[in-house]
Amino acid sequence: MKLAIIGTGYVGLITGACFAEFGYQTVCIDKDENRVNDLNNSKCPFYEPGIEDLLDKHLNKTKLLSFSNSLSASIHDADIIFITVGTPTKRIEGEADLSFVWNVAEEISNNINKYCIVVTKSTVPVGTTKEVKSIIAKKINEKNFDVVSNPEFLREGSAINDFMRPDRVVIGCENKKSEDIMKELYRPLYLLETPLISTTVESAEITKYASNSFLATKISFINQVADLCEKVGADVQDVAKGMGIDKRIGNKFLHAGPGYGGSCFPKDVKAFITTAQKHDVDLSILSSVDTFNENRINKISKKIISKANLNKGDYVSLLGLSFKPNTDDVRDSTSLKITKLLQDRGIFVKAFDPEAMDNAKKENTELQLFDSAYEACEDTKAIIIGTEWNEFRALNFLKIQKSSKNLIIFDLRNIYNAKEIEELGLQYFGTGK
Ligand code: UGA
Repeated sequence: MKLAIIGTGYVGLITGACFAEFGYQTVCIDKDENRVNDLNNSKCPFYEPGIEDLLDKHLNKTKLLSFSNSLSASIHDADIIFITVGTPTKRIEGEADLSFVWNVAEEISNNINKYCIVVTKSTVPVGTTKEVKSIIAKKINEKNFDVVSNPEFLREGSAINDFMRPDRVVIGCENKKSEDIMKELYRPLYLLETPLISTTVESAEITKYASNSFLATKISFINQVADLCEKVGADVQDVAKGMGIDKRIGNKFLHAGPGYGGSCFPKDVKAFITTAQKHDVDLSILSSVDTFNENRINKISKKIISKANLNKGDYVSLLGLSFKPNTDDVRDSTSLKITKLLQDRGIFVKAFDPEAMDNAKKENTELQLFDSAYEACEDTKAIIIGTEWNEFRALNFLKIQKSSKNLIIFDLRNIYNAKEIEELGLQYFGTGK
């Protein structure tokens, strides 16, 4: 089977590299010439554990993977074409901006000349895959192609493992022919007995948004419970443990913190709300999830300023800038939002992140960046742990204390034990404790 993947963002690149690992001849296409040149030299545009080895293996050794600028030259002999372009939030309405998807559909219609399946893998609102079909059908007979919705559930930082060992694969097809081909595509996963959910196109599209929205809801829920815990002397980590052990609830995504960020949850929750509104359906539970998450950073910043008595000209240290560990992605990063709110009050932020400093600097030029956590924590009034990177889990606070007196720790991700920190003579504030 020959595969073509259009768009080498996160989903596209991981999908392409992993399908090559399955043994398929795969070409990944992107308009961005520099990106394609870098990729042809096994250079990945973002940090993701394991991806560069996979690129190197399949570009240079198996030769199953290639990158190209030219859609017209690359898709004509593909059996399956994946659309993996971005679907950002439209600035004003909150809905997904599908212009990239429509353009690609148009280009596909100009360049296919044998039967193929066109798959939407980007996260797209319900109805999009059928719209892609209408666009292509303007030029190609409907017998000569099929459309399928096959949403992706991989997480940044563990994307390769998520692709290779998924909890499930969802395919939304319109007929048996395309369903059989998609099942054949995912056959390498049968050995692992991966559940394959075969459904309609619409159900597959909704499954993706409902999954991300449900996880976001879990996070906002536990964060609200965390706020209550702080008021009444309870510990949200114990509460989450007590809840999560119930199999109906599950212990995943019950970690209280500064709120969810990244390129998916904030955008997808908003887009799902807009879809519901368009169809006059009450999904107000999600509006509450979204608003609470948006306001959370403001509340946390105010708490930091007041507890540490921060004034104009003071220095604070921030550890972790990416939206979560094991990625250099700073899109909708709660750490960068806190930084901005502190800087607006004239407070200087000294920061360190193992991978995300280049991207963070592009977003915030006033950020003072250091080569290690210890350097970022010299001469400071407070340390904010914004992201739970492993290397922040066992900091030597005695060493840090030497240059900073009366230090306060804001452990937004609850990676430390309050008692142990307090025994060192530091003040400690976790989340929901
Ligand atoms: C998310 C989903 O988990 C993937 O299944 C999905 O494929 C992906 O979006 C997507 O739509 O492309 P990702 O954005 O990489 O993946 O990151 P997550 O690990 O889900 O974390 C999202 C945010 O929630 C982060 O800011 C994280 O810190 C926060 N989070 C997560 C919490 O605050 N508490 C938790 O318990 C879990």
